[in-house]
Amino acid sequence: MDDGQPLRITKDGIHLHAPEDFSGMHRAGRLAATILDRIAPEVHPGQTTGKLDQLIQAMVEEAGATSATIGYRGYQHASCISVNHVVCHGIPGAPIPASKYEKRPRGSDVLVDGDILNIDVTVVVDGWYGDTSRMFVAGTPKPFAQRLIQVTHDALMIGIEAVRPGNTFGDIGAAIQSFAEGQRMSVVRDFCGHGLGRVFHAPPNVLHYGRAGTGPVLEEGMFFTIEPMINLGRPETKVLADDWTAITRDKALSAQFEHSVGVTADGVDIFTLSPAGRFHPTWG
Ligand code: MF3
Ligand code: CO
Ligand code: CO
Repeated sequence: MDDGQPLRITKDGIHLHAPEDFSGMHRAGRLAATILDRIAPEVHPGQTTGKLDQLIQAMVEEAGATSATIGYRGYQHASCISVNHVVCHGIPGAPIPASKYEKRPRGSDVLVDGDILNIDVTVVVDGWYGDTSRMFVAGTPKPFAQRLIQVTHDALMIGIEAVRPGNTFGDIGAAIQSFAEGQRMSVVRDFCGHGLGRVFHAPPNVLHYGRAGTGPVLEEGMFFTIEPMINLGRPETKVLADDWTAITRDKALSAQFEHSVGVTADGVDIFTLSPAGRFHPTWG
């Protein structure tokens, strides 16, 4: 019987979940990942971010689940869609912020050839939260955009490789940071991953930079996201007047991938693996 009681809460306020809680996270994570699998063929030049969000909301409803983001701090959409130099929390249907090379009708949410975008979906299934995001491309991305996407994907997976009991959260951040900076890209500091489970956002803050050996020690039963945002230029961000959309200050491209994971007795369990095997975009 799952009464939602933690086995223990650590001194850092991190909830240690019971072995039977993993199955709830798998159901929620699988739905979020499946929605991203099913949205993939809908991403193309001429498509709008508003339409993509409508499709996502319909898929959440069809599954009998709930969107965690609709109504969250006044947010009204089932996804965040962050295009090009938008770092995160891009609002579907809102005008895509103009970049240096604007080939898009001003003030529109239509995707154009070469756009790269992160779609972030969080669903609630039987009270459990599944939170995942990945990169998509409209048409054919430029080689430097492809490289950013590859490095960001690999940064997340390298972070996940550091997840095992006895390692620390600093080990995760350090692994991501040293890899990304070694590729001459930068790690966003202003947003981080988070604990989750029967809540959307819980301790700890999961930083995507830091020093090995620092921070809370990972223990079996911890559930959290890792969701590095990596920039081609400088790491600084700013939030637009809509209070949500975060962009890079230098307007250089940004990418992000996110998985929800759990710490097992000897490693990691990824809740948001893509059933279709399309977590990473391919460019044909
Ligand atoms: N899914 C995002 C995360 O990774 C949070 C989005 S909150 C929203 O934590 F309100 F902007 F949708
Ligand atoms: Co998240
Ligand atoms: Co997310």
